[in-house]
Amino acid sequence: AGRKFCVGGNWKMNGDQKSIAEICKTLSEASLDPNTDVVIGCPAIYLMYARNLLPCSVGVAGQNAYKVAKGAFTGEISPAMLKDIGADWVILGHSERRAIFQESDDLIAEKAEHALAEGLKVIACIGETLEEREAGKTNDVVARQMCAYAKKIRDWTNVVVAYEPVWAIGTGKTATPDQAQEVHAYLRKWLIENISKEVSDSLRIQYGGSVTAANAKELAKKPDIDGFLVGGASLKPEFVDIINARK
Ligand code: G3H
Repeated sequence: AGRKFCVGGNWKMNGDQKSIAEICKTLSEASLDPNTDVVIGCPAIYLMYARNLLPCSVGVAGQNAYKVAKGAFTGEISPAMLKDIGADWVILGHSERRAIFQESDDLIAEKAEHALAEGLKVIACIGETLEEREAGKTNDVVARQMCAYAKKIRDWTNVVVAYEPVWAIGTGKTATPDQAQEVHAYLRKWLIENISKEVSDSLRIQYGGSVTAANAKELAKKPDIDGFLVGGASLKPEFVDIINARK
């Protein structure tokens, strides 16, 4: 549908200087599909290091950032700081931030608003838990999470949504291509009804949750899946095959 494929690697709290240098070398030497945007979510402390080792065509992302530019917020980092060290993306609202660090829909939306205002691109995560899915609430949950973002986001140009069912994250239980497509199609419909047809047509929606080189190609064939947000497999050489899933 004319949307550029976009693959994010989310290293989470993994890696050290040695292993990061190796992954960056693999990505530098690989032939990456030029029709795919690639971005690496790197632990903040290694962002500059990774930026210097990665090819220019690969973007780097913070995995979180606070909702203001500076001040007395011990332990936090700001979008302005991410920009300053050469990151142009930030991942916000990851399910681990929501579940482990109690981030609310509203806080995440405020962070997204501020990050966009500072000129960062945002990977805005959403997704239901297993309990919510089994209770038949998947659509309601992703709609609620999208509503919170929509209250704060006026211009969706620099936003990529990552749909990550929590039950699929780090479990090896990938959503089937049909299961993922079903939610992505629902999100397109939600966007038409709540934002606009233009945003529904142009906004990229990634799938995340146990994506591997083995399942990426089938998922990538679905019409409303515009890329992936990859955890575990982004630390391995197979990440190259995931980036090239549409090649
Ligand atoms: O942000 C990435 C997701 O949490 C997916 O992680 O690929 O290890 O399941 P995973």
